[in-house]
Amino acid sequence: MKDLIKKLTEAYGPSGAEEQVREMIRAEVEPYADQIDVDVMGSLICRVKPSAPPAGAEPKRIMVAAHMDEIGIVVSYIDEKGFIRFSPVGGLNPYVLMGQKVRFGNGTIGVFGTERIEDIKELKFEKMFIDIGAATRDEAQAKVAIGDAAVMHRDFSDLGNRVSSKAMDDRIACAVVIEAMKRAKPVAHEVCYVFTTQEELGLRGAKAAAYAVNPSVGIAVDVTVWGDTPECAPFNVVLGGGAAIKAKDSSLIAHPKLKRLMVDVAERQGIKYQLEVLERGGTDAGAIQLTREGVPAGTISIPCRYVHTPVETVDIGDVEACVSLLAAVVDELASPAGGGIL
Ligand code: CO
Ligand code: ZN
Repeated sequence: MKDLIKKLTEAYGPSGAEEQVREMIRAEVEPYADQIDVDVMGSLICRVKPSAPPAGAEPKRIMVAAHMDEIGIVVSYIDEKGFIRFSPVGGLNPYVLMGQKVRFGNGTIGVFGTERIEDIKELKFEKMFIDIGAATRDEAQAKVAIGDAAVMHRDFSDLGNRVSSKAMDDRIACAVVIEAMKRAKPVAHEVCYVFTTQEELGLRGAKAAAYAVNPSVGIAVDVTVWGDTPECAPFNVVLGGGAAIKAKDSSLIAHPKLKRLMVDVAERQGIKYQLEVLERGGTDAGAIQLTREGVPAGTISIPCRYVHTPVETVDIGDVEACVSLLAAVVDELASPAGGGIL
């Protein structure tokens, strides 16, 4: 699984330019899906049909979502000396960018520089620029255009039980969904595994995909933050504590029946889990629950340290717990009893 995580996290896929990630995922899931489509927003919708659909009735649909996009920057201006000004794509902190490199879709590498500042508190995106080694605007424009996006340039590191990379948010969830998809065996209902776009800009891909899928229940898989490094904010989720079952974040209150089902399944199957209330941030489940007349939705989270930096770090045991929990919950929901929810 580490190979898959390395491949997915090192890929280029800022919000709105997820093609490279999408094609990687398509190649992984093709043998396990009955139908694969790409929608207008670029989301990859993979349908697994039930083996024994209910007689005389249409099978219902379970939507599982993980986002393919990652945070990055977009070129907003190039000056006469070839320095690039930029805007953030998603929740970036300017402090994180100092000393970093970015990579554009065509492979161009840039490094961040800053104007002279007296106090680190003055560091804002407006004070920063990207240097791609060009001496003039023309030289820069030969490589990069206004509107081009770039991602952090950082490779995957195997730390043993833990792994670190850029874009664990949310490629680690893409890996979890791919692995769960191989294990789950839908009996009575269809399962739609959706790899969404533009989550970091406000759950945009999931919103459109959920309307098309028209699910009876939805589960998002995403990273959450951590509460176990020196002097960090108190938070109930720790690395190595297992799959995090979301109770609430700023986009969603998990549907009580679905949250209950996740906890019951984890207890019954001995899957390590922890409960999560996230103060700030949301997931695709927030978009899914507001589809049409409302959809019961919940989230399985992978605990992740240093979220939205180039060194996002997860625990392999937690990742495996998330795969087991997701596959087991999908099996329950796709059974004739629909997990008591469908
Ligand atoms: Co994010
Ligand atoms: Zn995410």
